[in-house]
Amino acid sequence: MINLRIPGPTPLPPEVLAALGTQMISHRSSEYRELHAEVAAGVGQFFQTKNDVFLFTSSGTGAMEAAVVNTLSPGDKALGISIGTFGDRFMDVVKAHGIDLTVLTFPMGNAADPVKVADAYAKMPDCKAILITHNETSTAIANDLVAITQAVRVHGNPLFLVDAVSSMGNVDIPVDTLGLDVVFTSSQKAWMTPPGLAMVSVSPKAWEAYKTAQCRRYYFDFGHMKKYHQKHETPETPAVAALFALRAALRVMLGKGVAETFLYYRELADYTRKRLTDAGFQLFGDQSHASNTVTACLLPAGASDEDFRGILKKQYGVVVSGGMGDMKGKIFRVAHMGWVSREDIDQAVGAMEKVRDDKGTVR
Ligand SMILES: Cc1ncc(COP(=O)(O)O)c(C=O)c1O
Repeated sequence: MINLRIPGPTPLPPEVLAALGTQMISHRSSEYRELHAEVAAGVGQFFQTKNDVFLFTSSGTGAMEAAVVNTLSPGDKALGISIGTFGDRFMDVVKAHGIDLTVLTFPMGNAADPVKVADAYAKMPDCKAILITHNETSTAIANDLVAITQAVRVHGNPLFLVDAVSSMGNVDIPVDTLGLDVVFTSSQKAWMTPPGLAMVSVSPKAWEAYKTAQCRRYYFDFGHMKKYHQKHETPETPAVAALFALRAALRVMLGKGVAETFLYYRELADYTRKRLTDAGFQLFGDQSHASNTVTACLLPAGASDEDFRGILKKQYGVVVSGGMGDMKGKIFRVAHMGWVSREDIDQAVGAMEKVRDDKGTVR
């Protein structure tokens, strides 16, 4: 048995595996419209929003691009916040579209400082948007969206474009209460669903920005999407199988309850961190901003990334992720999002202790 503890794709529960065996249907049929409506409404409950939540057949990066091209024009000023590799990717997407981007970077392992974000924004009178990653999967650090939005709004009212790819669904991010304008996530993370769907919410303020946004777009055009979404369809052929899977996953998640789901992952994150520290592993990064869906640890002293993760997989069936960017070869990351129990964490940590103490090499 493989214990897949990477931050996506995450394991699929039996209900979802069963749903993947469903025969195809026409995507222009009443059955499809029922499927689409149920999925969009279910996802919206976890986003805690009244906004439309679009279902794009895409990975998370497509939604990242959609957030940018539907709200901004080349030459617009924007402030981008990066605390790691996925923040950097968001910035690359913005730059690719000719936005006049100011980037505020925080060292890996840190969250963005709300005061510094607000100060940087205050110095940019024409800044249209702030782009930020909620849960930086590369370092297992989460930004404090409550503190950041509050600090910024003392100075003005920019659009907030938020990457919640690896947190939405498992973590409490009340989109409407926080006034977040475009928020996106993808199916292979918290949602216990195969890769293939990106879910994107669009606020009334984002729709205002859409009216004047000049970035080139076709597939990811929100207006194009909305025309079909209103009748519970998509303009192009959707990933029907992924929708079957997401519907099954949502039924499981909603069966547990939205608040109960958030609590489950908060407690599981605490449990994981405690198990790891009790076992003698050193957690990486500012633990006051530790992610509730993934945990990063320093590699044990003297262990190479290849050996540690290689033996873990080969001998114990535990698959964890390595570091990314500057953290490559320095940390490993254990995911606790989606379909995961305390027993999965116990087995993973137990195996890690054995691998560390055996000090073997991959054979
Ligand atoms: C925070 C974050 N943003 C964006 C992405 C990119 O998502 P995708 O691989 O679905 O394009 C990831 C993927 O791990 C992520 O964790």
